[in-house]
Amino acid sequence: MRRKLVAGNWKMNGSADSIRQLLDGIKAGAAEVAAVDLAVFPPFVYLGLVEQQLSGSSIAWGTQNLSEHASGAYTGEVAGPMLQDFHCAYVIVGHSERRTLYGETDEVVARKFAAARKLGIKPILCVGETLDEREQGVTEAVVGRQLKAVLDLEGIAAFNDAVIAYEPVWAIGTGRTATPQQAQDVHAFIRAELAKLDPAVAAKTAILYGGSMKPSNAGELMAMSDIDGGLIGGASLNAQEFLAIAKAGC
Ligand code: PGA
Repeated sequence: MRRKLVAGNWKMNGSADSIRQLLDGIKAGAAEVAAVDLAVFPPFVYLGLVEQQLSGSSIAWGTQNLSEHASGAYTGEVAGPMLQDFHCAYVIVGHSERRTLYGETDEVVARKFAAARKLGIKPILCVGETLDEREQGVTEAVVGRQLKAVLDLEGIAAFNDAVIAYEPVWAIGTGRTATPQQAQDVHAFIRAELAKLDPAVAAKTAILYGGSMKPSNAGELMAMSDIDGGLIGGASLNAQEFLAIAKAGC
């Protein structure tokens, strides 16, 4: 049985004050949703604050990105070993905003995935098609290609210590959600791709859905057999909404 994970991707939002309040709210309700795992992903600069607030709680934390390099002359980048200093359990790699706004290719994403794993930080690998790609009927080709880049570099065993998030780009921040069946179809495709290489790994890999998940649609999405939780953007900035989504997964 796979445990569900509900992860909050805060993106470039928040302040020290708002983050303290948000975490107080999440901590206050966490015991009621103990059947699911919770994790939050603040901007890098708030990592120390988040660690301080969440140490000793059941809530995990991580970052939205990392460098593929371990150290060196890479102005503005943050390396995996630095995330270790803050005891990050997870790191998001290949979010569609990183791919489209910052030009991260499948190969760069695969190297970031490898850099995280090497340090024992669980990557959450984001994959997903644009609206154009869906309309052209190439969703599986795109998602399959994004997944293959990581499998080619790291091998199937890497997914023993990794999470996948299927995030249709057309559903991110748009208020437009994939239907449970649309999402389930792609999740089942991803699991089948993994199963071709190792059925046992495929059976235990958590595959999250992301893209305008909210309290009103979280239950029906997470009821699908291959949807193991959510990567939540907008709704994760509100403790009550984030907890309500987690509750829907219990
Ligand atoms: P959203 O973002 O929930 O605001 O659509 C999801 C994500 O980008 O991870």
